[in-house]
Amino acid sequence: MECSWKTVLLLVCASLGVQYTAIRTLRDSLSGPCQGAYRCQTRHYKDSRWRALCDDSWVPIESPHKHILLFATTRSGSSFTGQLLNQHPGIFYVFEPLYHVQQAFTNSSSRLRRTLDRRALLGAYRDLLLNLYTCDLHFMENYIRPEPQEHITSSFFRRSSSHALCSPPVCLEGADAAASDLPDETWCPKKCGALNLTLASMSCLSKGHVAIKTVRVPEVGDLRTLTEDPRLDLRIIHLVRDPRAILASRMMAFSDQFRAWKIWNATGRQPRYVDLSQITSTCKDMMASVITGLQRPAWLHGRYLLVRYEDLAFNPKDKATEIYRFVGLEMEDRVQMWIAKNTNSNVSSEWNYRYSTTRDSRVTAESWRLRLSFDIVRTVQHLCNDTLAVLGYKQVHSAAELRNLSHSLVEHRTLQPVTW
Ligand SMILES: *[C@@H]1O[C@H](CO)[C@@H](O)[C@H](O)[C@H]1NC(C)=O
Ligand SMILES: *[C@@H]1O[C@H](CO)[C@@H](O)[C@H](O)[C@H]1NC(C)=O
Ligand SMILES: *[C@@H]1O[C@H](CO)[C@@H](O)[C@H](O)[C@H]1NC(C)=O
Ligand SMILES: *[C@@H]1O[C@H](CO)[C@@H](O)[C@H](O)[C@H]1NC(C)=O
Ligand SMILES: *[C@@H]1O[C@H](CO)[C@@H](O)[C@H](O)[C@H]1NC(C)=O
Ligand SMILES: *[C@@H]1O[C@H](CO)[C@@H](O)[C@H](O)[C@H]1NC(C)=O
Repeated sequence: MECSWKTVLLLVCASLGVQYTAIRTLRDSLSGPCQGAYRCQTRHYKDSRWRALCDDSWVPIESPHKHILLFATTRSGSSFTGQLLNQHPGIFYVFEPLYHVQQAFTNSSSRLRRTLDRRALLGAYRDLLLNLYTCDLHFMENYIRPEPQEHITSSFFRRSSSHALCSPPVCLEGADAAASDLPDETWCPKKCGALNLTLASMSCLSKGHVAIKTVRVPEVGDLRTLTEDPRLDLRIIHLVRDPRAILASRMMAFSDQFRAWKIWNATGRQPRYVDLSQITSTCKDMMASVITGLQRPAWLHGRYLLVRYEDLAFNPKDKATEIYRFVGLEMEDRVQMWIAKNTNSNVSSEWNYRYSTTRDSRVTAESWRLRLSFDIVRTVQHLCNDTLAVLGYKQVHSAAELRNLSHSLVEHRTLQPVTW
């Protein structure tokens, strides 16, 4: 062996040096230039890409201050609720990033799938959430398929649902459209090209806050380690909805998967092969999280807000104010304008397109009552009776009661104070 201890030391030093430089470079390339940069960003985004964020004031990396999780279940009104956060100019909003993790695991080899347990998947979910809350979007590359090349991808799930990913500095071409009233989904896929994840990370750092929506975490207890992580200041908005409405909405949206249910709804006869397990576990998970929240464990202290979608739909302005008070942010003009435009039926027709959450929110919240047969409703009430009771959703006992929309099924109740 020719290699003396001096050489070894030199090599170690050199490699440390390289690592140090690499870390410095990454930090520099990702550093957010100024606190609350979104204000100066909107003023300067016509400037060159990076200077755009804020002139000379290069301050050290500042991690986002608020870490917001919109914790929901499929078809519970989470797209609508997510918009309340997405519209805020200081929030970097990501729509269901865990989709990629689930896909990666689902498409893995059968050997991995056999050994994969719930714990491993939840661990991967939490890892990704933590990395996104600290604005490391490169971490997504572990899961996105096909694998991004040079940090560029065209496969980012529902990229257009995130305003920050359609506006400067991520997408300079979107500057004018992003400042307009048009929904991002109408123009972003055409204008913005592939997504540069380095730019996305930079944009994230330039905002003060990160909000993530997910429907893939089963129970709030699965988030405990994140609430206890000293690097984060997590605020969980737990969005719930009447399970009968969730079912009706899923039947409309996923008609293939719910074919048996649709036959049941149309014929009035329950097919033997109808799958009752999905709605049952939805109710069970929702209930478990609500119970955990209402028990007020120390690890959730000040971090948990329960929101019934119906309350938000009937009273968007007040509920949105409550949500913003809970996360500790101002409800910016853009948010207020969005609410005004999207919560009654008097909106211009340009908003009526596929991705739109534009509707009379009050009407959509109740439409399930005209869409489900009484027989189905009775079955769901039986499967979910405890969940309905704890959330204050009244059961109906006849078809007439079900269809009578002047008879409200949502009990007025304050489920909990905003802070506790
Ligand atoms: C996973 O497999 C399904 C079915 O083969 C395919 O449609 C989907 O695109 C795959 N997803 C990813 C992320 O590769
Ligand atoms: C992605 O953005 C970064 C930061 O602006 C830039 O350095 C890099 O060249 C971009 N990547 C590509 C492939 O354009
Ligand atoms: C729609 O506009 C009309 C006339 O401006 C008004 O009378 C009506 O109350 C509005 N409806 C809603 C749901 O806001
Ligand atoms: C159930 O049936 C009713 C009337 O037959 C129909 O109006 C409704 O759209 C159906 N619901 C679903 C979810 O398909
Ligand atoms: C729900 O149903 C179960 C079994 O039928 C019953 O034991 C329980 O008391 C019911 N809960 C409520 C809140 O009605
Ligand atoms: C509908 O419900 C309202 C309020 O509970 C009630 O006053 C009314 O009589 C009901 N209508 C019918 C047709 O049952």
